[in-house]
Amino acid sequence: MSYEPVVAIAGVTGAVGAEFIATMDRRAFPVRKLKALASARSAGKTIDFRGERIVIEELTEKSFEGVDIALFSAGSGTSRKFSPAAVKAGAVVIDNSSAFRMDPNVPLVIPEINAGRIREHKGIIAVPNCSAITALVPLWPIHKANRIKRVILSTYQAASGGGAAVMQELVESTRAHLEGRAFQPKAIPHPYAFNLFSHNTAVDPETGYNDEETKVIKETRKIFEDERIAIGVTCVRVPVLRAHSEAITFECERPITEHDVRAILANAPGVKIVDDRAKNYFPMPIDASGQDDVLVGRIRRDLSDASGHSISMFVSADQLLKGAALNAIQIAELAQRERPWFRGRLRPKLTSCRHRTLPYDNAIHPIHSRWQQ
Ligand SMILES: NC(=O)c1ccc[n+]([C@@H]2O[C@H](COP(=O)([O-])OP(=O)(O)OC[C@H]3O[C@@H](n4cnc5c(N)ncnc54)[C@H](OP(=O)(O)O)[C@@H]3O)[C@@H](O)[C@H]2O)c1
Repeated sequence: MSYEPVVAIAGVTGAVGAEFIATMDRRAFPVRKLKALASARSAGKTIDFRGERIVIEELTEKSFEGVDIALFSAGSGTSRKFSPAAVKAGAVVIDNSSAFRMDPNVPLVIPEINAGRIREHKGIIAVPNCSAITALVPLWPIHKANRIKRVILSTYQAASGGGAAVMQELVESTRAHLEGRAFQPKAIPHPYAFNLFSHNTAVDPETGYNDEETKVIKETRKIFEDERIAIGVTCVRVPVLRAHSEAITFECERPITEHDVRAILANAPGVKIVDDRAKNYFPMPIDASGQDDVLVGRIRRDLSDASGHSISMFVSADQLLKGAALNAIQIAELAQRERPWFRGRLRPKLTSCRHRTLPYDNAIHPIHSRWQQ
């Protein structure tokens, strides 16, 4: 008999929540029952899932009885408050927020990079920051082939990264601007139409880095298991509705050419090369929207490094998908295949399952071993 988990979505009415539903459908993720959870504001409203009308319930500590998988995308405070109750009820939490990402007891997983870490979970598995995922999916196979010692990264982040209200604000403020009406920003602190601004997370007064930038730096080191990698990040919100883009320059330990990078990325999981110099056609958020891969192009030598160790490129990815919902569903698919011990209360000790393999294992390093130079 096939196993079909009971799935709860905390934050089902949000931008990521909608993509959880669509992604589960698209990938035919097995679901015995779906619990749709959001704030008290949404309780009693309905969503449609596989021909069924499901009534949204208010998220409480009692929401998780009988739940196998709890997908959280309702902000870090909500994750912190309600995840322990979900874990206690026997669910595995897959959390899109930043609440647990840097907790040493919580695996921080991009399946194309470190799927094996899923087995180590103690009830919670974290999905990395969307800007980090967008950069790391293509950087990882390069790092494996020729260690990256330094990265400089600038983001061009879409409104969708801020959730449904920010997307709506971009649309409404653009319309107001075109009609010559005044518009008072509500969801974000700055005028958004025909403007861009430094990422709207808190800025550390000492370092000058905002939270988004700090997340990318710390999470990269945790996922790559490389504390030495030097990273400089500038995160900027641009008036694009959906899908983040990034200009990335990286320096490797050994010389590397643009041809090396193309050859490595040609077979990399989750990557699609879009790099047509003749047509001046490169990754764009409009092409990345609604599809799963990180688009990579403008692959070229960094002329500021005469040693030939550095490459620049430009990437775009749908951060509601690969940066959030898709990455979470990929984790759920992998963890689910490891049943029957997937449910919290049935989970065995880690040592009893280290020899087992997960899909993507051929793309990852063995558990507990460092990347080999
Ligand atoms: N957007 C992205 O690209 C992205 C990428 C990676 C990670 N994330 C993370 O995913 C989470 C959600 O992002 P989003 O973009 O989907 O935001 P969003 O569109 O603003 O949606 C927020 C969701 O959280 C729910 N919620 C808020 N407070 C709640 C509470 N106290 N109890 C229960 N539910 C509550 C909302 O329910 P109501 O409708 O009832 O208010 C809504 O369903 C955030 O933690 C974000 O950092 C987002």
